[in-house]
Amino acid sequence: MDMFVIQGGYPLSGRTTVSGAKNAALPIMAASLLADGMTTLHGVPDLVDVDTLAHLLRALGSQVERTESGDLTLEVLNTRPNLADYELVRRMRASVCVLGPLLARRGAACVSLPGGCNIGDRPIDLHLKGLKALGASIRVERGYVIAEAQRLRGANIYLGGPFGSTVTGTANVMAAATLAEGRTTIEAAACEPEVVDLGHYLNAMGARITGLGTPFLQIDGVERLHGVPHTIIPDRIEAATLMIAAAMTHGEVRIDNVRVDHMTAIIEKLREIGVTIDVNGTSVRVTTSGRLRSIDCIALPYPGVPTDVQAQLMALLTCASGISIVTDKVFPDRFMHLPELVRLGARIRREGNCAIVSGVGELSGASVMASDLRASAALVLAGLAATGESVIRRIYHLDRGYDQLEIKLNQLGAQIHRMVDEPQNMPASLTLSVSDKAEDTSDPTHELRGPTWLKRMGITPRTEA
Ligand code: EPZ
Repeated sequence: MDMFVIQGGYPLSGRTTVSGAKNAALPIMAASLLADGMTTLHGVPDLVDVDTLAHLLRALGSQVERTESGDLTLEVLNTRPNLADYELVRRMRASVCVLGPLLARRGAACVSLPGGCNIGDRPIDLHLKGLKALGASIRVERGYVIAEAQRLRGANIYLGGPFGSTVTGTANVMAAATLAEGRTTIEAAACEPEVVDLGHYLNAMGARITGLGTPFLQIDGVERLHGVPHTIIPDRIEAATLMIAAAMTHGEVRIDNVRVDHMTAIIEKLREIGVTIDVNGTSVRVTTSGRLRSIDCIALPYPGVPTDVQAQLMALLTCASGISIVTDKVFPDRFMHLPELVRLGARIRREGNCAIVSGVGELSGASVMASDLRASAALVLAGLAATGESVIRRIYHLDRGYDQLEIKLNQLGAQIHRMVDEPQNMPASLTLSVSDKAEDTSDPTHELRGPTWLKRMGITPRTEA
């Protein structure tokens, strides 16, 4: 298991480029199950989640290969397999996106219910509601969704849920409806750019979808879809993460391959905080001048501030002057990063789906634990800004959804070292050496009372009277 050892305090400078969007690539890869012939995807990021889904698609009869030039080719060779096994689906929720395409193209699907998740409840009731409306018979048995349909039929579907629209739910139902008989309408559809990108791919394959980017989709079913070339949109969440990295280190960074039209809410919030963002086509230049300002921020479905940037924004606000309130109305429990940021010296209190962040002058390095993809990114950003060394464990969470993030950051001047998580790799500043331990090992706090280590931390050891 890997960890990052980060030496904080280095302002980032230079130029970097955003990779393709994970949350567009995954549903598009799943939708390739609908096609006759080969799909060639350009700009698919190099991620563990992409590899996981490729593995699942191969198990479902597709040939999936990465070409020399980095493109991903996908072609269905065998339409008989229809089991998406728990061992694969548990690793990545987005695997559920194969459900709609399998049902539409093969008339049957057996997909494991996705496993648990550190960002909160993630039911798929809306996915199943939509597919049932299209005429599928669906039952859930022994942790699997078993779906069957001779031929899906168009329907009018309301897909809104208690937290607004569903991104992958919209992807699943929209993809299935492309081969249904007749017209399907989806109200309260997700408007995220990644859903729009999927719709563009489907229409290029021969689907007839209108209303993309609006909450009202209309899909007229067709007989068949064919494989096509498609370029994945840039990852707006990675772009936001890189922008915040530049801001937190008070550096000056130019970021290329940015779709600023997908980032209006994020850019507005960063400017409200005091980050200077100069836009030049698909490049942005990020700088700061002086201390950042506290703000209130609410994560909402698109076009609101994305929940996938909530943790990173919280990291930024830990060093802003004043008190900020960060609310997540999409995943009300998405705060696993909060106690880890506190270990880095942040002052944050949680109240339900809100976090009250009192800005501190600076963060200080510590050993912390990543818990999910975006929380990991937030901890990396905080480690870049903190004085001294930080260690971030379980960095495999980051590898799921960021394409070589530490390499991009180190090319901008960060000091991030990926190491195997072993005691000997822990920095001296964050470890207790044997001599530091107080003689009285029966004392439960003896770990904390080692004189040398405390002195290193600038704490005068207590001396027994
Ligand atoms: C997608 O997840 C993204 N993942 C998530 O990104 C992102 O956070 C999320 O959308 C919201 O934008 C992918 O696209 C692969 P939802 P998804 O269905 O589709 C509730 C990342 O870090 N809901 O839009 O699973 C749900 O509980 C990941 O890249 C239902 O109630 O999210 C949540 O509160 C994390 N019933 C809200 O809707 C359902 O059937 C939004 O969920 C489905 C969802």
